[in-house]
Amino acid sequence: MGGTTEHAGNFVPVDERLVSFFVSLKQEKGRDHMSKIVQQDILQQLEQLQRDAQTALAQANTTGATREWYSEYLSRKGRLTSILRNLGSLSAEERPLVGKVANEVKAVLENALQERQAAIGQAELEAVRRAESVDVTLPGRPQKLGKLHITTRALRDIYAIFTAMGFQIYDSPEVETDEYNFQLLNIPPGHPARDMWDTFYTTMPGLILRTHTSPGQIHAMREYAPEPIRVILPGKCYRYEAVDASHESMFYQVEGLAIGKHITFSDLKGVLINFANQMYGEGRKTRFRKSYFPFTEPSVEMDIECVLCGGKGCPVCKYSGWLEMLGAGMVHPRVLQNGGYDPTEFSGFAFGMGPDRIALQKYGIDDIRYFFTNDARLFERV
Ligand code: FA5
Repeated sequence: MGGTTEHAGNFVPVDERLVSFFVSLKQEKGRDHMSKIVQQDILQQLEQLQRDAQTALAQANTTGATREWYSEYLSRKGRLTSILRNLGSLSAEERPLVGKVANEVKAVLENALQERQAAIGQAELEAVRRAESVDVTLPGRPQKLGKLHITTRALRDIYAIFTAMGFQIYDSPEVETDEYNFQLLNIPPGHPARDMWDTFYTTMPGLILRTHTSPGQIHAMREYAPEPIRVILPGKCYRYEAVDASHESMFYQVEGLAIGKHITFSDLKGVLINFANQMYGEGRKTRFRKSYFPFTEPSVEMDIECVLCGGKGCPVCKYSGWLEMLGAGMVHPRVLQNGGYDPTEFSGFAFGMGPDRIALQKYGIDDIRYFFTNDARLFERV
């Protein structure tokens, strides 16, 4: 009969079947033993992972760093998942323990992550609050006060001076007909003076942007004739100009017109000298030069001693010592007639000045183009 004989605790196989039984028993035991070692190893790795992860998390100071931490330890490609890949080498009895520990480690780390993220979020919020906080005890920032445009200031000075002399302000259109801008002012089609006042045309035939405020004379006369008139007519004018330091294609003018029964050239001179004294200061020298305008006869231009160099000569006055202020003259009889006045009974004077140029002179600015480029530094200069 087959059997085993026991010598000093050794199994001695007595037949082939028993031999194979004992061999498989031994292998089984060996596998058990190996598996235990792997289980221990995984548990240790989990323990180590938890420690490493906690240390690293304590050092993550930004939301971004916690995201990187999550990716390294807990994500599907993270270290926890890669440790758990070895679960397959464990026996069915050993797996639950490792699984339980792994879940605990995961839960501990997830909780720690949540706490850390909350703390970082709070700290980041605090930092933003601190950075954006307003110290209400600090003095406020001074507000820069706006200033009137220099031309507006010149215009207001001009209004004040002339209204004090009894002139009224009269509004006239910027878009004019050829008739008013030229023909009624004694400038028929083909007249050479039209070259001086080339303008912008609208798409409606005969309708143009006025080149000067003089057509306003006709509007005022036709409204008031045969009553006497003392008006100034301010507003924008347009010219097809080669723009330079003293010429713009859009600029202001102030027209003056006085009509009555005994108006003389002396009245014109008196009014303009009074204006110059008030505008530039008492005693500033002025001079009248003969000139030509189709709508006045005689015609003059008035110059003022250069305000910048006091008449000595400088680049602004082109070393002449004088600056042109305006054009003027006695209203031409034909223009008086066109306005509805009888030239044998009535006479009048008219003048037209450029407030932009006056502002240039008064405030010592060397280029009219600064006026319309919206550079606020211009106002720091005056
Ligand atoms: C005239 O325009 C006449 N209508 C003035 C006049 C009115 C004469 C009444 C007689 C009686 P003049 O083209 O010279 O004239 O212009 C008058 C003023 O406008 C000039 O002295 C100047 O100060 C200003 N002015 C003329 N063209 C320009 C321009 N392109 N840019 C800036 N200012 C200008």
